Amino acid sequence: MAADPRFAAWAAGLEDYLDHALPRADVAPQRLHAAMRHAVLGGGKRMRALLVYASGALVGADDATLHAPAVAVELIHAYSLVHDDLPAMDDDDLRRGKPTVHVAFDEATAILAGDALQTLAFEYLATAAASAALRVDWLATLAQASGVAGMCGGQALDIDATGTLQSLDALQRMHALKTGALIRASVRMGALAGGADAALLARLDDFATALGLAFQVRDDILDIEASSEQLGKTAGKDQAQAKSTYPALLGMDGAKTKLEELADAMRAALAPCDARADTLRALGELTVRRSH
Ligand code: IPE
Ligand code: IPE
Ligand code: MG
Ligand code: MG
Ligand code: MG
Repeated sequence: MAADPRFAAWAAGLEDYLDHALPRADVAPQRLHAAMRHAVLGGGKRMRALLVYASGALVGADDATLHAPAVAVELIHAYSLVHDDLPAMDDDDLRRGKPTVHVAFDEATAILAGDALQTLAFEYLATAAASAALRVDWLATLAQASGVAGMCGGQALDIDATGTLQSLDALQRMHALKTGALIRASVRMGALAGGADAALLARLDDFATALGLAFQVRDDILDIEASSEQLGKTAGKDQAQAKSTYPALLGMDGAKTKLEELADAMRAALAPCDARADTLRALGELTVRRSH
């Protein structure tokens, strides 16, 4: 399935909104502002934002409304990466082809930049040009996906599991939280913007659950099979740090089989939908085939 031509337009529009949402680097505290901009701008596949737009497009929401949740989820994601890379977590020095924030700046600035990106995401949503009811739904969705029942909880499980071989169930739960939750929130926020009913929200959530897990399984495979140049981040880190991953537990063939099963689950979830779901379908296919 060919990439949808709207992906590039959405990503370009998003970049502009992110640029304006972020504080200027020539205003004090300059170092913090520069670090936030370093973390967010000029890199990343913008997959979570694209999911917001594609899911919104499926239910007829306009891009002007979708920019707010697209910006907010990318701010949360960028913050999660800044903290994920810290010495106390994955201790990485390369991200999106550039030095990580704590390397380009310093550790205290990286911690604060992550904190400030997180709160900016919620401020941005709370003050968006949308109905109060929609803003509250977005805020609750993104907050739940970011916290203990989502990304942060999953990151905690990841740290706990480092150096151990956990059960498949536990591994799946960890991946679903640390990566899947924000991806599900992206799809849900887009659908909420177009007033999707409960049945459609549930169907889209089945799709997003499979995509979210597939996204991290693919990330774990690429960590082994791709180069640092290709990824823009240091390859081979998971094994070096004894991370709990699908390839570690099931072997590379098992991880790839799992990925195909998840691709089937994505297709099945959207099977009853008409051609308006093609953009989401394309993002699902991209996720399992992506090379970086
Ligand atoms: C990397 O996410 C971290 C994971 C959750 C696997 P992405 O692969 O979406 O990173 P960017 O945004 O494209 O840099
Ligand atoms: C990160 O997972 C998940 C987050 C919540 C940021 P990884 O630690 O595998 O992500 P990369 O490989 O550093 O991008
Ligand atoms: Mg990590
Ligand atoms: Mg990492
Ligand atoms: Mg990884």
